[in-house]
Amino acid sequence: MRRKLLVGNWKMNKTRAEALAFGEASVALSSFAEEKKVDIGVTPTFLSLDVVKKANPKLIVGAQNVHFKSNGAFTGEISIPMLQELGIEWSLVGHSERRTYFGETNESCNQKVIALLNNKMVPIYCVGETLAEFEAGQTKAIVGAQVKEGLASINKEDARKVVVAYEPVWSIGTGKNASKEIAEDICGFIRATLKEMFGEVADEMRILYGGSVKPENIKEYMAEPNIDGALVGGASLTVESFKQLIENID
Ligand code: PGA
Repeated sequence: MRRKLLVGNWKMNKTRAEALAFGEASVALSSFAEEKKVDIGVTPTFLSLDVVKKANPKLIVGAQNVHFKSNGAFTGEISIPMLQELGIEWSLVGHSERRTYFGETNESCNQKVIALLNNKMVPIYCVGETLAEFEAGQTKAIVGAQVKEGLASINKEDARKVVVAYEPVWSIGTGKNASKEIAEDICGFIRATLKEMFGEVADEMRILYGGSVKPENIKEYMAEPNIDGALVGGASLTVESFKQLIENID
């Protein structure tokens, strides 16, 4: 049985003081989520990882990005040992904003996923097509390639830990969430692709839907057989909204 997972992606939001306030308030959310048997987490900016983790050690706290090298001349980057020093064990990889604005590719994502797994960390690998690709009927070709190339050369044992987030680019931050039928169709396709790559391990891997998920629409996704949770941007920023997401997850 795959346990539901709800992750709030804070993007470039919240100062350390604001992140701390959420972290402290989230202690009650963690108990509530535990009762509902849901795993919850957030991905603050690098600067707030430690305050949130310290305020609520039970919350999954992940980075939004990481470099695949452990150190070196990479100005502006953060490495895995730096995250681990703060007790951080998770990281997003290949969010569409990283792909669009910072030139990330399936290949660079693959290097990051492999580095995270080699260091016993958990990657949340993000995939999804643009509006033009969606309208041209290319979703499965694009998403299939993102999954195959981004998760290439991973052994089955490590694959078990990987979380895949399907986030159609046209639905992120637009209020135009994908229908539950589209989301399930693509998440099912992702699981079939993972099965080709990793066999039965694919049945244990969690696949999230993301893109304009809100307290009002999260329930419909969670009823779908191949959707194991959500990656939520805007609606994850306040404690009240995050609580409502947990309330409505099943
Ligand atoms: P959104 O963002 O929920 O604000 O659409 C989702 C994401 O980017 O992960």
